[in-house]
Amino acid sequence: MKTIKTTLTCVLALCFAACTHSPAPADRSMEDRVESLLSQMTTDEKIGQMNQISPWGEPTQIAESVRRGEVGSILNVVDPVALNALQQVAVEESRLKIPLITGRDVIHGFKTIFPVPLGQAASFNPQLVEESARIAAIEASSMGVSWTFAPMIDIARDPRWGRMAESLGEDTYLTSVLGVAMIRGFQGNDLSNPSSIAACPKHFVGYGAAEGGRDYASTFIPERTLRNVYLPPFEASVKAGAATFMTSFNDNDGVPSTGNRFILDQVLRKEWGFDGFVVSDWASVAEMIAHGFSKDGKEAVEKAVNAGVDMEMVSGLYVGHIKELLKEGKISMAIIDNAVRRILRIKFRLGLFDRPYVDTAAPSVLYAPEHLQKAKEAAIQSAILLKNEGGILPLADKVRTIAVVGPMADAPHDQLGTWVFDGDKNYTRTPLKTLQEEYGDRIRILHAPGTAYSRDKQTSGLPAAVAIARQADVVLAFVGEEAILSGEAHSLANLDLQGAQGELIAAVAQTGTPVVTVVMAGRPLTIEREAAASQAVLYNFHPGTMGGPAIIDLLFGKAVPGGKLPVTFPRTSGQIPIYYSHNNTGRPWQGNETLLDGIPQEAGQTSPGNTSFYLDAGNDPLYPFGYGLSYTTFEYTNLSLSSARIKASDELSVTFDIANTGKRDAVEVAQLYVQDCFGSVTRPVKELKRFMRIPLKAGEKKTVSFTLPAEELAFYNINMEKTVEPGEFNLWVGTNSREGLQAKFVIE
Ligand code: NOJ
Repeated sequence: MKTIKTTLTCVLALCFAACTHSPAPADRSMEDRVESLLSQMTTDEKIGQMNQISPWGEPTQIAESVRRGEVGSILNVVDPVALNALQQVAVEESRLKIPLITGRDVIHGFKTIFPVPLGQAASFNPQLVEESARIAAIEASSMGVSWTFAPMIDIARDPRWGRMAESLGEDTYLTSVLGVAMIRGFQGNDLSNPSSIAACPKHFVGYGAAEGGRDYASTFIPERTLRNVYLPPFEASVKAGAATFMTSFNDNDGVPSTGNRFILDQVLRKEWGFDGFVVSDWASVAEMIAHGFSKDGKEAVEKAVNAGVDMEMVSGLYVGHIKELLKEGKISMAIIDNAVRRILRIKFRLGLFDRPYVDTAAPSVLYAPEHLQKAKEAAIQSAILLKNEGGILPLADKVRTIAVVGPMADAPHDQLGTWVFDGDKNYTRTPLKTLQEEYGDRIRILHAPGTAYSRDKQTSGLPAAVAIARQADVVLAFVGEEAILSGEAHSLANLDLQGAQGELIAAVAQTGTPVVTVVMAGRPLTIEREAAASQAVLYNFHPGTMGGPAIIDLLFGKAVPGGKLPVTFPRTSGQIPIYYSHNNTGRPWQGNETLLDGIPQEAGQTSPGNTSFYLDAGNDPLYPFGYGLSYTTFEYTNLSLSSARIKASDELSVTFDIANTGKRDAVEVAQLYVQDCFGSVTRPVKELKRFMRIPLKAGEKKTVSFTLPAEELAFYNINMEKTVEPGEFNLWVGTNSREGLQAKFVIE
């Protein structure tokens, strides 16, 4: 039996620690250059640096503004020739020759599209997430992009919120680890390398808690929850050296983030020591008027600048109002100088002063074969097997005829998912095309989509789908969501499969031919009925360019599924918010309560059970956080702790055995959860504290150990101090947030 000890054991612990290296030590000579430049700048030139524009209007006018030093950054230009031309104006024709920083939303790939971030999170693989971001940076930087607006590290606990697709899921620890991995991928080892781009953790902060899951809606996150749940991924980003931050659109408890001095100045700068710059979200300074927080653009600018928003995205309000506010003494020159200092610092760190141009003669790296290969690997590791009744997957050799149905089988645009500005659907490999190319000579492949696209309500195509299902050994039903249904501003109230997709699955299942449902979507969908009607369910958060080959390899067993859910799947949207790491009520759900259909007429008031639950849906999710099956089975045994009593300054060593008890080599994501049983404030019933991908050959057993410093159990207590409170703790190791071996320990 193999033992995975500290090296492997602490991959994540170490990664988390190593990934949180401090920002590059302030380079004195660089700081001198910043100061020297600052001392030469006019007020207008300073304000210019704080102004980010989008390429609207006449190119000659834009160039003229750049020449006059009125622009610090431009976003959404990805033509390297055009960018070089603008940069030339900035560094050769403007008075102080300050280069532009060029931004773009490179969220899950640039040209080669990787799974949406929620999918990448399902891999529980920081290494892979880092490599994916690295490739995105290599491709984007080759086109002149020097700054991406990613990673999005908003904690997302409401799948109605369309931007959940862009998040790393519901968990604070997982989001912290993977967010840091993305930053490392984008920024590389050295920000000044030509293939490095500046990262921009967003949206600071709380945006994912939008009321009702409606994008942009208000949030109501009390400070303790903010600090315990929403802020840690951002703090980890600062430690990882993230160059910039973006504010969020929401107002939290009445204060829009873009005017929130507490989070931007007190927390980000004073507590965490962030020395990069903060950009507003798109016109979010102006939006403080609609919020009713500022009566006009001028007051909005006053609040944003004084709160600590260094650069304003696209509304032009800074250019319009800062000077006047300075004259009136409502903004100080010291605040402006600090903002400009931070912007110049990042431009120096990016090496833009020394290397302002992109090399347009370099061979293209877009869609490089190794990029496509990595995108396929990412899509494989991001797929989650939710059901596999009778081991129908992988498909047996004896399968002779396959019926392919569903609108997502051949949807090259939609499988790319949200936030694909630059990816070209002509490079997408769909499941249907891959199946035909790779198996068409051996297997009879029948295709009748049934419905044309995910929202299609027409049922006239269903009989053709049923007809091919009757002729087949197995039905592959590719359903889900078009790309447009998730992402910014695309919230949904109903999470059932759209259009006639549910009817399609019911109809093909009626034929008696086994159904394998493959979902591609930007969020968890409420698929209880469809899962019940299917023998197997393989869930893919929009898998990107190489989704087709990845899914076909998984279905045929060339690859083994190992993804785990980074977010809880509700049975019905009425259960939302539903997340594993909730606090307990005084009357926790026991699981033996009587649900609606079991309650006799005129039953006594308390007879169904007087606990906290839904009469019509119970409290169990459809699938819990961390859940995902494999083509093999794993057994966890022999959990032991280094000590049952430790001090707050100690480390706990957690050891257990894990065996692959099936017939396939596979990778298991082992998960460690902790519960602080009693606190000065109530604590979550479980919190993920470690995870590790463990490769196991068929029949192999390994001893695994995690090291958990007790200080990682600290939280903001009744006095709002970050403390490890002595007392009893529960600990679990297992295959998901619901199952596992349990132990107890005490912190003295
Ligand atoms: C608005 C989005 O909220 C933000 O995430 C994005 O980076 C900016 N627009 C720029 O496109």
